[in-house]
Amino acid sequence: MKIAVIGKGGREQALVETLAASPGKPEIYTYPGSDAICLTATKIEVAGFDELIAWMVDNKVDLCVAGEESYLVYGDGLANRCAAVGIPCWGPRKESAQLEASKEFAKEFLMRHSIPTGLATAVDSYEGAKAAIAGKYPTVLKFDGLAAGKGVAVCPDEAAAEEFLQEVFVQKRFGEGRVLVEEFLTGPEISIFGAICDDKYLILCPARDYKRLQDGDAGPNTGGMGAVASRRLASPELLREIEEKIVAPTVQGLQQDGLPYRGFLYFGLMLTPDGPKVIEYNCRFGDPECEAVMPLLRGDLAGFCMAGACGEFKPELISFDEGWSVCCILASAGYPAGSHSGDVISGLDACGARVFHCGTKKTDAGWVSNGGRVLAIVAQGATLDEARTRAHAEAAKVDFPGSQRRSDIGYKNM
Ligand code: AMP
Ligand code: GLY
Repeated sequence: MKIAVIGKGGREQALVETLAASPGKPEIYTYPGSDAICLTATKIEVAGFDELIAWMVDNKVDLCVAGEESYLVYGDGLANRCAAVGIPCWGPRKESAQLEASKEFAKEFLMRHSIPTGLATAVDSYEGAKAAIAGKYPTVLKFDGLAAGKGVAVCPDEAAAEEFLQEVFVQKRFGEGRVLVEEFLTGPEISIFGAICDDKYLILCPARDYKRLQDGDAGPNTGGMGAVASRRLASPELLREIEEKIVAPTVQGLQQDGLPYRGFLYFGLMLTPDGPKVIEYNCRFGDPECEAVMPLLRGDLAGFCMAGACGEFKPELISFDEGWSVCCILASAGYPAGSHSGDVISGLDACGARVFHCGTKKTDAGWVSNGGRVLAIVAQGATLDEARTRAHAEAAKVDFPGSQRRSDIGYKNM
């Protein structure tokens, strides 16, 4: 089986390595890939999206797996283009991927299908936003488009709201777009992953992401500074409630609305005093959650995704370990406002944990940083304590100038 994995980060490396370990020993190709992914997969040398589709046809690729979200909504959409040339794609069509690409679309979907979520108003101007906030703080402001995890501001006061609204409507940091003014919710967060095949679904191993830059959940939101994954992260009762109130109605809603879906669907939830509520959908696996979850996966991920992309739901092909997995991210200097590249990474040889490369490059001087999030260091254990102790000890062996790492991943919020 030939599989093309689309993306270039740590999530894609984790997917590639797990797919490659499937019993059928598939050949893995990647676009755009990275030096680290290409230790396992072969880079597809093409100049852009059109050439990529042609390459997959010419080289008889059996399955395309979407890693990151941008390709799902680029041009006519990755899955749509695959469908047009008869290549099964694990990843939803462009129309369905609006669940992630537009927060307003997602909010309307949630409301229409009575799925628990925070109340929100969509606005298209600075003045409109101020009117919708109506002096009520804290408030949550969300740019209505893809912003790599940086388009959301939880604003404790007017000054913070002013700053974000300036960025969106005056500096246009994320481009043109509207803003959702959303009710501030409280409670622990949890990332739930569904593998959706039309009207059927499997709930995978849950995870917890650490979105803030610094220890104690301080500092700005990032793409994610670490993650914990375990089947034991949520009790069976909580998982049942999440399935009944959120996952099943979402899958039914997609069917009712004529939104075809085959692929991973990520439910970002807040466990509020009024029960679990959806704060976001993502039409792909989480990053860094994927790096924590994949080492726990057993069975045949390639066969599962291949069958699912063809409309055959085969949940029996995969399962998850009982243990725990903890992922610590090393980010570059200046992240998330900016990033720093070219810093030489030391200690990789001494590190005894799984390492996934989020943003690195191989040079004559060795591996160097090449992006905001640089490395994911992941360790497993039978208990949470074992997994987190190992993950931090192994992450501490790896370093580069200006590296940023949280020391409370797997401790805070547990
Ligand atoms: P999102 O990109 O929508 O997941 O938002 C990023 C982060 O902002 C979330 O992980 C939460 O920590 C926080 N957040 C989003 N929506 C809300 C909300 N309604 N109330 C409180 N915090 C929120
Ligand atoms: N970890 C957050 C995300 O993947 O969106």
